[in-house]
Amino acid sequence: MEAHTKTDGQAEVINQHTGERWVYSDIVKDHFFHPRNLLLEGAKEGEFDAEGMVGSPACGDVMYMWIKVNRESDRITDLKWKTFGCGSAIASTSMFSMMVTENGGMKIDDALKIRPQDVMVRLGGLPNRKIHCSVLADKAFRKAVNEYFRATAQYERVIIEGAKIIDQRLNITDKDIEEAVLEGAQTIEEVQQKLKVGVGDPDALPEIEQLIRFYKEKYYG
Ligand code: FES
Repeated sequence: MEAHTKTDGQAEVINQHTGERWVYSDIVKDHFFHPRNLLLEGAKEGEFDAEGMVGSPACGDVMYMWIKVNRESDRITDLKWKTFGCGSAIASTSMFSMMVTENGGMKIDDALKIRPQDVMVRLGGLPNRKIHCSVLADKAFRKAVNEYFRATAQYERVIIEGAKIIDQRLNITDKDIEEAVLEGAQTIEEVQQKLKVGVGDPDALPEIEQLIRFYKEKYYG
């Protein structure tokens, strides 16, 4: 790829494979070259309250996010991230992390209302082909928040998105089981180590076993 600086200060990048011209705003460039809240070496044990990790089905890149929450005020006092994604993922996650933590940190419910489009507006836009990169921050954040809700036994606040609930007590869905299998859990014991699914709801066990078999077959053959 080759970058040119345009007269209005925006960068134009030409994709050498497709000849497409992508225009990046000064703000995108700034966050790409000086990412805020980046945690290159990853988090230390016990340093944060929760972690979220997602992979992009569109490109296979991965995003990690860590959050620290003030239990009394319900505000996010710290948010750090790390990605193997592209420049657009870096810039949009950097901006997202700034929005969530500025002015003393947002309340969890307000931060959950931030849409990828809101991040895009603050960045001055992204090329259409790079929109999926900005969704990674949003997804990783939701996972981290769900982990926080579970770790603090706020099960009624767990966000359920288009998934089927398998364990009614812990609000664990088929998507959570899919993720656990994707992260390497192969048996019901290993899935339970990650999720505690079915521990307090033995009626769910046959369905959980069936799902583990299904996802193992799907991803590992
Ligand atoms: S292309 Fe994978 S995150 Fe942007």
